Amino acid sequence: MSPAQSGTVEETTFTPDVQWWQSAVIYQVYPRSFADGDGDGVGDLAGLTARLPYIASLGVDGIWMTPFQPSPQLDQGYDVSDYCGVDPLFGTMEQFDALLELAHSLGLRVLLDVVPNHCSSEHPLFQQALAAGPGSRERDMFHFVEGVDANTPPNNWQSVFGGRAWSRATGSATDTDWYLHLFSAGQPDWNWRNPAVGDYFDGVLRFWFDKGVDGLRIDVAHALFKAEGLPDSPSTGGVVDGLRSNPQVSDQEEVHEVYRRWRTLAEKYQPHRLLVGEVNLEPARAARYTRADEMQQAFAFAFVKLGWDPAAWAAAGNELEAARQLHGATPTWALENHDIVRSVTRFGGGDLGNARARASLVALLGLPGPAYLYQGQELGLPEVDIPLEARVDPMWARGGVCRDGARVPLPWTGDPAFNHGFSLADPAAEPWLPQPADWGTHAIELQQQDPESSLALVTRALEMRRLLWKNEVFGPDDGGTWRVEARNLLVCERNAEFLVTVAMGTEPVKLPFGTVLLSAVPLEEHGWLQPNNAAWVLRG
Ligand code: GLC
Repeated sequence: MSPAQSGTVEETTFTPDVQWWQSAVIYQVYPRSFADGDGDGVGDLAGLTARLPYIASLGVDGIWMTPFQPSPQLDQGYDVSDYCGVDPLFGTMEQFDALLELAHSLGLRVLLDVVPNHCSSEHPLFQQALAAGPGSRERDMFHFVEGVDANTPPNNWQSVFGGRAWSRATGSATDTDWYLHLFSAGQPDWNWRNPAVGDYFDGVLRFWFDKGVDGLRIDVAHALFKAEGLPDSPSTGGVVDGLRSNPQVSDQEEVHEVYRRWRTLAEKYQPHRLLVGEVNLEPARAARYTRADEMQQAFAFAFVKLGWDPAAWAAAGNELEAARQLHGATPTWALENHDIVRSVTRFGGGDLGNARARASLVALLGLPGPAYLYQGQELGLPEVDIPLEARVDPMWARGGVCRDGARVPLPWTGDPAFNHGFSLADPAAEPWLPQPADWGTHAIELQQQDPESSLALVTRALEMRRLLWKNEVFGPDDGGTWRVEARNLLVCERNAEFLVTVAMGTEPVKLPFGTVLLSAVPLEEHGWLQPNNAAWVLRG
């Protein structure tokens, strides 16, 4: 029985030994750009609720919603001013409750984003800290530190978004404190060495879990603790790399205690709640966050950054497999999210990028472990080059890359009226990011009628994936052994019976012997894969 038919989310587990999240495919919803219910040009809960049947029709197991909580929207909601509310921009708590109920009745789990590294500078606790002044208990909830002098912050840390990671507390002559923000100045970092912060977040988790939310994606999960004393960083280079590999700024041992505590809390609920981490570290370090008593999932970030390079895919895959064997953590696959250049564009753009993105979807959904799809990935949406004057990403504003191009409102219809069906209520609504003129060519309504569309391929792949789980061709203990064969055929051997193959070279290549269950485009010749095609092969 498919999840969409099953009626309740509890019934979607295949066998008692397989937890639902081990086989799951989750669809990432970026609410501002999914569907606009009230006609203000910004996607919202009403729009998402109206369009939930579409997501269920894909055959995914659930959704992950990026933040919709109250926020000044400086970083599109990743600057939270109230962790247990709904920003009026997106709707009301009653609308969220209705959304959750409908999702569950459609067989979809619902994961939310929790942002525990930082909040908004508008958060009442930060405002109280500012008012309370240097040395106060209130300031100890954050990293307020006296600067070297009025122009020199306490250390040399750089913000992930560019520029320094410190701002003056008030700028007044008597207040010599600076506060730490790994992202923008409007996103002060919590001080996790203060136990009151942990207690506060326990309350946030309970609030959403009590409502029936099925899990949480944990933002910047590896950075909550900073090295004791906030020492200078030896790295002065790339800011994001600074966060990834900088032993002063992230990946402190103490952070694991948080996830042990959260896992215990998540398992107090039935069914157990899921924790999936944004742990942007190399596989061996990231896998430590998914040990048996920590999170169940952490994204395999190595894959989000890959180009069309078989050796790099095989190396990343084998590195992840080694980490899995060491820590028992199955990789959680994703090729796109709201921070990353769309795969069509990353893999070369145009027809070539399109073909490769289709092939990568086939690969993604056949790999051992859970997978995440980002809204629009099923449509083969390309990255959009947003006009300079329309860019709103704070990372761009601070000198980093611009992430807006992966966040353009979805095209539901081929007709540009109602912003290609994005705005359900007002044809004149200006979408918060401009849709390109040809956006309608990717429209959902067109792809739904085309059996060769990218959307149809994803739906087929998900249907077959469920069958393979049901028939125990796929199992929770599958690992991935990766290799590159002649003519750049990338092979991931999921188990003794099942191979994922991707033709990454320039010539047709003979497939290993077996039955082709699925390919990105039909094979031109039996047993041969054309360049930029991918296939699932069942050994005969
Ligand atoms: C994560 C989010 C990103 C956000 C950042 C700061 O990386 O995915 O969108 O800007 O955290 O919260």
